[in-house]
Amino acid sequence: MKIDLNPSVKFENRHNGPSLQERVEMLEKIGVASIEELIDQTIPKAIQLEKPLNLPTAKSEATFLKDFRKLASKNKIYKSFIGLGYYDTIVPGVILRNVLENPGWYTAYTPYQAEIAQGRLEALVNFQTMVMDLTGMEMANASLLDEGTAAAEAMNMLYATRPRDKKKAAKFFVDEKVFVQTKEILKTRAIPVGVELVEGALSDLDLTDPDLYGVMLQYPNADGEAINYKALVDTAKANNVYTAFAADLLSLTLLTPPGEMGADVVVGTTQRFGVPMGFGGPHAAYFATKDAFKRQVPGRIIGISVDKDGNKAYRMALQTREQHIKRERATSNICTAQVLLAVMAGMYGVYHGPNGLKDIASKIHGLAKLTGQGLEQLGFKQENKNFFDTIKIKVDDVQQSKVKAFALSHEMNFRYEPGYVYLAFDEGKTIEDVKGILEVFARTTHLSADVVDLKPLIENLDFNVSDGLNRTSDYMGHMIFNAFHSEHEMLRYIKRLENRDLSLVHSMISLGSCTMKLNATAEMIPVTWPEFGQLHPYAPQDQAAGYYELFQDLRNWLSEITGFTETSLQPNSGAQGEFAGLMVIRAYHESRGEAHRNIALIPSSAHGTNPASAVMAGMKVVIVKCDDLGNIDIEDLKEKAEKHKDNLSSFLVTYPSTHGVFEEAIREMCQIIHDNGGQVYMDGANMNAQVGLTSPGNIGADVCHLNLHKTFCIPHGGGGPGMGPICVAKHLEPFLPSNPLVKTGGQEAITAISAAPFGSASILPISYAYIAMMGREGLKHATQTAILNANYIKERLSEYFPILYTGSQGRAAHEMIVDFREFKNVGIEVEDIAKRLIDYGFHSPTVSFPVAGTLMIEPTESETKAELDRFCDALISIREEIREIEEGKADAENNVLKNAPHTAKMVMSDDWDLPYSREKAVYPLEYVRNSKFWPTVRRIDSAYGDRNLVCSCIPTEDYEEEVAS
Ligand SMILES: Cc1ncc(COP(=O)(O)O)c(C=O)c1O
Repeated sequence: MKIDLNPSVKFENRHNGPSLQERVEMLEKIGVASIEELIDQTIPKAIQLEKPLNLPTAKSEATFLKDFRKLASKNKIYKSFIGLGYYDTIVPGVILRNVLENPGWYTAYTPYQAEIAQGRLEALVNFQTMVMDLTGMEMANASLLDEGTAAAEAMNMLYATRPRDKKKAAKFFVDEKVFVQTKEILKTRAIPVGVELVEGALSDLDLTDPDLYGVMLQYPNADGEAINYKALVDTAKANNVYTAFAADLLSLTLLTPPGEMGADVVVGTTQRFGVPMGFGGPHAAYFATKDAFKRQVPGRIIGISVDKDGNKAYRMALQTREQHIKRERATSNICTAQVLLAVMAGMYGVYHGPNGLKDIASKIHGLAKLTGQGLEQLGFKQENKNFFDTIKIKVDDVQQSKVKAFALSHEMNFRYEPGYVYLAFDEGKTIEDVKGILEVFARTTHLSADVVDLKPLIENLDFNVSDGLNRTSDYMGHMIFNAFHSEHEMLRYIKRLENRDLSLVHSMISLGSCTMKLNATAEMIPVTWPEFGQLHPYAPQDQAAGYYELFQDLRNWLSEITGFTETSLQPNSGAQGEFAGLMVIRAYHESRGEAHRNIALIPSSAHGTNPASAVMAGMKVVIVKCDDLGNIDIEDLKEKAEKHKDNLSSFLVTYPSTHGVFEEAIREMCQIIHDNGGQVYMDGANMNAQVGLTSPGNIGADVCHLNLHKTFCIPHGGGGPGMGPICVAKHLEPFLPSNPLVKTGGQEAITAISAAPFGSASILPISYAYIAMMGREGLKHATQTAILNANYIKERLSEYFPILYTGSQGRAAHEMIVDFREFKNVGIEVEDIAKRLIDYGFHSPTVSFPVAGTLMIEPTESETKAELDRFCDALISIREEIREIEEGKADAENNVLKNAPHTAKMVMSDDWDLPYSREKAVYPLEYVRNSKFWPTVRRIDSAYGDRNLVCSCIPTEDYEEEVAS
């Protein structure tokens, strides 16, 4: 045998599932001679790309990681004292390795199938409970995207729920001492929905103003000062004005919580709860409020319900009322949130417990206080009276520039404002840092830092603030925060929860529209490198040269892939991308003197976030019909575009459609919109069927978002993080979003969409790695394979079930809708099939979107034929189980489908009395015996959970029962 000393191990062969032999078999089953023939039958010839993408050739995994190390080393890790919502933190190793770096956690999807998501649902309830306890509020959601957007959600929710006598009030006052990025996002979000944002000093606040409906405060404020707002809140209440606080969650272990001052909403970031700064994200924001607002809360709330046996079980509460599902009546478009990071923050709370958190907070305060006292001995003035982590040092211009230069030479970043230097402390700092700061400041004086004797100061350090700001109430008293403080216990707790969840480590998750493809290990490795994790988003640009290089390449690549000219990396989810894109369109119309253009045409089949985002961008939604084949009714589109031609803003279209079809008339649709003065927004959720074969720009759209957490391999994290960059044509470039402190966006940039200038920068290496390792050819092959896999499933299943909506030549795109409505005749609902799939070891495909009573299957390119076959075998076997009911061989009520999923507890019970065997219940096919996934609860009663909303930890006795059973 000849030896090849340079074997080419192509990453694309690891990423794409089917082997060469499998491909041949699959093409044969589909009835085509080649993949090219299949693509020609699937994608209209007119929109196929004529030339290959201009992207680099593929790198092997090893080469990529080696090269990427070099890029990472261009980022310089200086000590950050900048603060403003981003702090160094120590990620406990047990959480780092077993959650953040663990595919069992990061490859799970949003917990739509609650029976196989009990682990992350419990972790999220821990998060909610911790937030409620620390803020002193009645309820909390399971995370939002960042503090700035959470504040905007508060502003909008309070606007939507104004009391009757304030129905005309539109003013929302924002204290000038709110973090700068938050104020900027409030601006972006206020104007389109008709809120009048008023920024000013608290001394200018007139709470009796009849036009005022709400106030936003920062606690402690941007200066670092903690103020007791109780009197302000009382007066606000007396005048029917709402109050929202953006609060530092860790500080609330020591400071009186906003809930005790009467706040209506409290928001903030949980970044410093063990989640690296990551040059801006991702981090979980929190949103806590009063029970009275529970039906209006943005994002997802995890609640407690019961399963079929009456046992406690977790589920997403109020699921059917999740805001974006209300479409154009929604007040928020949040879909993907920050679940993985919320899990980490909650675990940090579990690991440290209330005392541990208090110790960390006290240490931070102690370091800040000590530094302030030391600097006073050097002759500086520290001006904050009551503070947690931030001190405010008065300096003149000369001193400031010297401090800056000396600090940089000590590899320290401070925050500089006219007349002041601000120093924010965090968990990562030590007494050595205090000494370093004293040295820096001493160098600007005639004194030496040695004149400060720290010893007596340290001996007298305490936490004691005035004005009733010392927290006196207890928090986090629940067992869960007091039981797992040894690493062994914590490790086992994390593992126990992980084992309850089905993720990509078990089997394929063919959720249509969600693209659960491989998240390769080599893509994930750099995410936890300190060079990406430990940078503050406002660190000077020259310290982030690696990041800037990465951004530049990625923007170029994504622009090339979408056929556009520029990309903004700012939006933190697909829905945020939609909002950003529509705001860019809005700015474009305004720049042409056409600010009145405010009609958004949206097909009836669109995802709920599309109409919700349009309303947030100040648009009126006009629905366009779909025909019987699921295609957009072009006549209806034309009629509505012409009818609204004077005010037409945009048309939002998902392509290929949410029905899994490359609609032939797409170019014509774009033309109709352009002829009537509108812009075409392409929802990029289905980009996995386009890359390398066609593109939004080539089709004729003007802007699109990309879900990097779908097509570009960022794992779903159980419901986030995500990234939704927008790519635009030349004429929209000037309007791309800015940031108040870091240069981003175009010449006439809209204000910020996300808190951080580059969104969740630290997960961008994942998408970068994917493109770099796949290269031009590999990306094209991935798209071809995604279409191949979908059509193979379609061929196999179409012999048993109707497949809705195929293209003109009978082909599916990268996903298809399988219709189960005919089984209603024998009492079988699509939900029964979804739950029975669990017994076969599979997560259900997307249930009842976009068509009720159906499953939408998207296998992605990463699954092998063997896995696709197992999945098809499972569905076909379920068909046979339904036939038994049809033929009267199985009971209509008491059968394997209605009782699914089956737990180990059920089949191990001595009381098995179901009319079928245990074997049939849990080992319905041979392959299941080899790797059985056991759900830990039976089917969950959704309605019960909605009627009885409980979103904090279940009573301790119930945990004890669970352990005992
Ligand atoms: C078609 C479509 N558009 C938009 C979105 C929203 O994306 P995100 O959840 O990232 O906000 C989704 C999410 O599933 C989707 O399927």
